[in-house]
Amino acid sequence: MVRETRLSPDDFIYPMFVVEGRSVRRAIPSMPGIFNLSVDNAVEEARQALSLGVPAVLLFGIPPKKDAKGSGAYDKDGVVQRAISAIKADSPQLQVIADICLCEYTDHGHCGVVEGQEVQNDATLPLLAQAAVSCARAGADIIAPSDMMDGRVAAIRKALDEARFESLPILSYAAKYASGFYGPFRDAAQSTPQFGDRRGYQMDPANVREALKEVATDVAEGADMVMVKPALAYLDVICKVKEAVDVPVAAYNVSGEYSMVKAAAQNDWLDYSRVMLEVLTAIKRAGADLVLTYHALDAAKLL
Ligand code: PBG
Repeated sequence: MVRETRLSPDDFIYPMFVVEGRSVRRAIPSMPGIFNLSVDNAVEEARQALSLGVPAVLLFGIPPKKDAKGSGAYDKDGVVQRAISAIKADSPQLQVIADICLCEYTDHGHCGVVEGQEVQNDATLPLLAQAAVSCARAGADIIAPSDMMDGRVAAIRKALDEARFESLPILSYAAKYASGFYGPFRDAAQSTPQFGDRRGYQMDPANVREALKEVATDVAEGADMVMVKPALAYLDVICKVKEAVDVPVAAYNVSGEYSMVKAAAQNDWLDYSRVMLEVLTAIKRAGADLVLTYHALDAAKLL
């Protein structure tokens, strides 16, 4: 009766990794319980999420071929575009969120186009805008840019408006840190940078005031919702962001946070269900309105 924070399946967004092929359900070794799914199996998994009361999925595409400009990200017949259409056709009430970034699609693994060893911020913006419009055309309900280029929310907003998607919301990865906790994701998406790292565009884990600046910039450029990522080591950031803005705040309980709990549970070092719910409750208690989590289905079954 006196509990201050309540978890519910409708707080969750379930991330999925879509690959080419049919009937593919390939385990991701560093993320037990999470799979690379072909479109047919992604449709099944999305239907299961909805039936458990999870209202939204976030899609990452892993293209069969990567190139320097990440063309798979804005190919109208690309794997993520086909997954969006197929999932919407099967589960129209499910919110399908398109992650917009180039790193899963570039052969060098960076989130933007590269010249020499440098990621080119401004040259990347039109490609991100194209990716957003192509996912909108495929039927995405929400556009979620995760690249951290400066000015991308404005560029995407403008492109969406021009393509007559003026009502489509943007959930921006606004405060995204250069984090070691993304390790397992990069296995899942085969997106580890081939040289250098992402510290040129992602944030320094030591900074919190900078997060407020990044969030304010994205809101001013038209973000309808903002995200803090990762979540667990950044609960103070979630809390401060929640106080600073009046748009919904999402937090991404990222791959490494998930894998730590899974690995410890597999060794019987801790109680999976208990720790998972404790972690998710803490993220919500810190101020997150929405939690992106690979635990979504496991947690929804318990709640
Ligand atoms: C792509 C992207 C990443 C994640 C989400 N979108 C990886 C990265 O920035 O390297 C990480 C998600 C996770 O670890 O679960 N830009």
